[in-house]
Amino acid sequence: MVQQVQKTKAIGTTLVDVKGLKVHFPVKGGLLGRTVGQVKAVDGVDLFVRRGETLGLVGESGCGKSTTGRAILQLIKPTAGTVKLDGVELTTASSNDIRRKRAEMQMVFQDPYSSLDPRYTIGQIISEPLENFKRGNAKEIQEEVANLMETVGLNPFYVNRFAHEFSGGQRQRIGIARALALHPSFVVADEPVSALDVSIQAQVLNLLQDLQGKFGLTYLFVAHNLSVVKHISDRVAVMYLGRVVELAKSESLYETPLHPYTQALLSAIPVPDPEVELRRKRIILEGDVPSPVNPPSGCNFHPRCWKAQAICREVIPPLEEKQSNHYAACHFPG
Ligand SMILES: Nc1ncnc2c1ncn2[C@@H]1O[C@H](COP(=O)(O)OP(=O)(O)O)[C@@H](O)[C@H]1O
Ligand code: SF4
Ligand SMILES: [Mg+2]
Repeated sequence: MVQQVQKTKAIGTTLVDVKGLKVHFPVKGGLLGRTVGQVKAVDGVDLFVRRGETLGLVGESGCGKSTTGRAILQLIKPTAGTVKLDGVELTTASSNDIRRKRAEMQMVFQDPYSSLDPRYTIGQIISEPLENFKRGNAKEIQEEVANLMETVGLNPFYVNRFAHEFSGGQRQRIGIARALALHPSFVVADEPVSALDVSIQAQVLNLLQDLQGKFGLTYLFVAHNLSVVKHISDRVAVMYLGRVVELAKSESLYETPLHPYTQALLSAIPVPDPEVELRRKRIILEGDVPSPVNPPSGCNFHPRCWKAQAICREVIPPLEEKQSNHYAACHFPG
């Protein structure tokens, strides 16, 4: 459905480096509204994104993907951990420094219906970041808005229309134009096509890929299933219950998954070849994803893992390079 990744694209050194990232939300309870617990939405995420690449971030709904994306961009304050953008630590930066950095890192949101304010025109929506960062006078900004609209495939003629007058796909183009307005180097795309009709998903994915080539963008591309990110990701990180459990080049992850959870996810994807499909063995995981309020000890996948041993209940397996460029967080990988 989507063009293959251009294998010629230049992938460089680490642009975004995340270590031990945690985001815990307080749970309030009782008559006095005291904090009675913590939702451990992100509970020790390690990952890195190289300049010019697309890193797919995949996991079931609720595993902490959006919170990870927002915490990397400092839209949510992390509870613990470090986030470096181009070598600069963000978690301890002043709000002024973060504001300046904001131009370099942007987000495309999941739902183009709720993320664009219906009271504003397209021109107002796209020009807002340019005005906030004083990128030129009124006329220059107007020209830049027209350029951005053309870049994302929207006719600048519609600049004074309201966002609600547009279809989902066009609205997502408006969101993308706004995210690109300040020429960011890093973009978190949070399930950017999952709210769109299947018929236009490919168009928006192709647009994102074209823009990456044109502007040398680095993407963290969030999706809830492995088949969506297969063709657009250079590498893929798999998340389970607040942690990254595996991170590898796409080919290596899809062909030789090392973590039992990734193996289970991949076994659920139908294969186009009917003969292979007949022989496909599905790994059915027992039980549901546990609550992030009270996650299991040690490897938090252990209650559902068919390979679990005593050590798995006690010791959190670190995300380690088990094969060349192939990282997994498991005591018994492979
Ligand atoms: N602001 C918040 N306050 C409390 N809990 C939250 C908040 N945002 C997210 N969560 C919880 O954190 C977990 C991870 O959410 P999220 O990052 O949105 O997951 P995903 O994007 O993978 O679906 C979920 O259990 C969700 O209910
Ligand atoms: S660490 Fe143990 S429980 Fe966790 S995935 Fe590996 S084998 Fe399974
Ligand atoms: Mg999400």
